[in-house]
Amino acid sequence: MADIRVQQLRKAFGDFVAVKDSTFVVNNGEFFCLLGPSGCGKTTTLRMIAGLELPTEGQIFLGQEDVTFKRASARDIAFVFQMFALYPHMSVRQNIAFPLVSQGMPRAEIDTRVAQAAATLHITHLLKHAVSGLTSGDRQRVALGRAIVRQPLAFMMDEPLGALDAEFRELMCLELRALHDRLGATTVYVTHDQREAMAMADKIAIMNQGVIEQLGAPQEIYERPASVFVADFMGSPSMNFIPTHAALARGATHLPVGNAALELPAVQDHVSARALLYGVRPEHVRLDGDAPLRAEVMGVEYLGNCQIVTLKTAQDNVVRAKVDVQTRAARGDQTGLAFDSAQITLFDQDSGRAIRTARDDLPLTGAALTGAAHG
Ligand SMILES: Nc1ncnc2c1ncn2[C@@H]1O[C@H](COP(=O)(O)OP(=O)(O)O)[C@@H](O)[C@H]1O
Ligand SMILES: [Mg+2]
Repeated sequence: MADIRVQQLRKAFGDFVAVKDSTFVVNNGEFFCLLGPSGCGKTTTLRMIAGLELPTEGQIFLGQEDVTFKRASARDIAFVFQMFALYPHMSVRQNIAFPLVSQGMPRAEIDTRVAQAAATLHITHLLKHAVSGLTSGDRQRVALGRAIVRQPLAFMMDEPLGALDAEFRELMCLELRALHDRLGATTVYVTHDQREAMAMADKIAIMNQGVIEQLGAPQEIYERPASVFVADFMGSPSMNFIPTHAALARGATHLPVGNAALELPAVQDHVSARALLYGVRPEHVRLDGDAPLRAEVMGVEYLGNCQIVTLKTAQDNVVRAKVDVQTRAARGDQTGLAFDSAQITLFDQDSGRAIRTARDDLPLTGAALTGAAHG
């Protein structure tokens, strides 16, 4: 196994730049997610690491070795696609053995490795079966088997669960993470689904239009988003943003919105008068009939263990609250909104950067927030 270092990686297709000066490290044994919306450059980044695409600029190291211009076949990286192509006329055993047979590995060693891979994936009982009759989940396991049997330095996975239905995807997330923990293999996993990334990753790089906006552990990214984009992308329902215009003195703990003064963690530096966004996650919103920020209930979504209440403030901002099922709310109710002030993030509306996040008191554990403008 090996770590992967990506330095100033850039990829242009003609005038269009798909990946803009990406720099990150995937530590040995880490489960690293590249997360972002469709078209943001995830697959292109992964293909460059795997050697399927040449970078326009930058370098890629696999362990100590500079592999930037090495062919894919010379990199010892296994790639798992969403549209995994198995050989339909071959058995499960033959499919898994295929990469080793191609390498000309001795028969006895192939048998041992296939048996190990099948045991790891709990598909030993399927080895004799034809792949044509398998469920999509078992096909996915066979595709993984074909990757792990090679015992490569690292795994690249490009939305491997994308074709599965939601319920099964959750199960496969757990399985994949458990498999990772058994193998301890350095893994780069691409997804556009923030829940998948949150459930599996040790570290997430969240991309937007070719740029890594933030790198960090899932909890860190959720609690300390570096930008509006990140805050909006992580979490479901996503963070609420209440716009206002204000100047804040150093140490200020309140932000004027309409006729209310919303609490926030003390700002560390003076904020000159400008457009701001007060960011609050739905789980940090409470309905409080006495609160000065007035709102009307637009709808209630009952989810069994909680309910999502959609409200509109007197300033016409839509706010979603995730509240317990005992909270009484019905469409048309007039109420007030209260927020857990310790959990607020304040953003500069023009740059989209976070000024103050909920956990700025804690040191960062992951890599630096890319370009975050604090204070
Ligand atoms: N071979 C190519 N030629 C031209 N444009 C490409 C090529 N491959 C990808 N792109 C463009 O680069 C951008 C990023 O693509 P991709 O890395 O596939 O995004 P993602 O995997 O995040 O959805 C997209 O706008 C895509 O259209
Ligand atoms: Mg893609």
